[in-house]
Amino acid sequence: MVMVARGAEALEAAAAALRAESGLPAGTQVQAVAADITTVEGRERVFAVRRDWDIVVTNAGGPPPGDFREWDRDAWIKAVDANMLTPIELIKATVDGMAARGFGRIVNITSSAVKAPIDIWACPTARAAA
Ligand SMILES: NC(=O)c1ccc[n+]([C@@H]2O[C@H](COP(=O)([O-])OP(=O)(O)OC[C@H]3O[C@@H](n4cnc5c(N)ncnc54)[C@H](OP(=O)(O)O)[C@@H]3O)[C@@H](O)[C@H]2O)c1
Repeated sequence: MVMVARGAEALEAAAAALRAESGLPAGTQVQAVAADITTVEGRERVFAVRRDWDIVVTNAGGPPPGDFREWDRDAWIKAVDANMLTPIELIKATVDGMAARGFGRIVNITSSAVKAPIDIWACPTARAAA
């Protein structure tokens, strides 16, 4: 498996923790690629490791918690890029191979806030980040 984040130090620590897990299937290799997955260059660095992934999980953080009326265009574009356009690019790059091999899973992790607003003051995680 390959794990991706921009911050190399935390990423490498997370990969090391995973490698130390005894529950991984035998032979599982955990690789860490520090890259900005929203960029063409970043995705190329990830796909340089391997291209024919059977499982793709997207999990970039969402937009900052707050009142949507206060977010400017740049904040919206960054959120759409990280949480929609980049997952689409990753799906485009992997789905045909999955179909050809007869197996594939794409898991796009997102927030319940895509369906209904969250009262951030009632949510401890969001309140801490605000
Ligand atoms: N936290 C919660 O309580 C919660 C609850 C419900 C749903 N969710 C949803 O779960 C998803 C993840 O949220 P989270 O709170 O876990 O976010 P997070 O703590 O910010 O983690 C996001 C991960 O993605 C990496 N990342 C972000 N942007 C990236 C980029 N451009 N390129 C490569 N890696 C990138 C981050 O590492 P780097 O910053 O080092 O790149 C980090 O490892 C979101 O869709 C969120 O809405 C979160």
